[in-house]
Amino acid sequence: MKYPEVRLRRLRQTASIRRLVESTLPGPEKFLWPVFVVEGENRAEPIASLPGQQRLSTDRLLRELEPLAGLGLGGVLIFGLVETGRKDAVGSAAQAEKGVVQRAVRAVRREFPDLPVFTDVCLCAYTSHGHCGPLGADGRVDNDAANAQLAGVAVSHAAAGAHAVAPSAMMDGQVATIRRALDAAGFADTILMSYSTKFASALYGPFRDAEQSAPQHGDRHGYQASYADLRSALRESALDEAEGADILMVKPALFYLDVLARLRDRTDLPIAAYNVSGEYAMMVAMAERGWGDLGAMVRESTAAIARAGADIIISYWAGRYTEIFAKETGA
Ligand code: PBG
Ligand code: ZN
Repeated sequence: MKYPEVRLRRLRQTASIRRLVESTLPGPEKFLWPVFVVEGENRAEPIASLPGQQRLSTDRLLRELEPLAGLGLGGVLIFGLVETGRKDAVGSAAQAEKGVVQRAVRAVRREFPDLPVFTDVCLCAYTSHGHCGPLGADGRVDNDAANAQLAGVAVSHAAAGAHAVAPSAMMDGQVATIRRALDAAGFADTILMSYSTKFASALYGPFRDAEQSAPQHGDRHGYQASYADLRSALRESALDEAEGADILMVKPALFYLDVLARLRDRTDLPIAAYNVSGEYAMMVAMAERGWGDLGAMVRESTAAIARAGADIIISYWAGRYTEIFAKETGA
């Protein structure tokens, strides 16, 4: 059958009819909000490259989380910052028992017992050189030395009460090493969400500014996946699944919806998509210039991420959930 019997506009005639046939936008329970935590009290510093996001001390983070936890937010993904003086060649501050992340985890668990707490497990915000692991004699990141450090960080986060740890360093074998360390330390129930297919992307700039974690020399192309090598990027996720990851991830999200859709067909594990800092900043900048409606752009791109197959959406927009995803009325 075709026109004139077939008329697609029949199912588009009113907002309520459209809603019957449309898929719905993911609700707050599908979002993880990435947050930047600093030492001290009563600190809430705006981040120039991420307007609307802040570096927060734990007490201020708790205040921000109150309304979001009430809405049923899916969880937080915690990143920590330390003073430059506390950084060293191996990133030891990342596994301090009373480190900034460890303390934030304990506080969030205490205040919001039902809110899932995820932590980023990496070293770049704690190493003096800004790479994701200790450097070897050749100046490249020493893979196995990095794994040993990352395992220590993951165990310290689990000990603080994190529901899930999320290694993002892109070291070979990091998932297996961390899983073994967690189990040996008595944290068999700690969930491992791997940044499994993480690309060396030009979209992380605002995040590195927020985290003060840009590499001091070179770049991350020696460990993060290449956008020009899809097969290797997919192998990264397959290997992490084989190493025992509970949740896989594609990062960034919007430039990689094809990768997300392909991964969806290849795995039965839940998949998270990380709608990264550059994707956030692009839309903010466009809206600031009056060239697009922020809410409409964010809803459209979020629907695309869900449609491509993400179960979990890691997004800075989660921190502005009501403002951005408040119900619109169609005409
Ligand atoms: C750290 C890390 C990065 C991001 C998440 N974890 C930066 C990087 O790899 O350089 C990027 C997140 C974002 O841009 O929103 N390894
Ligand atoms: Zn890193």
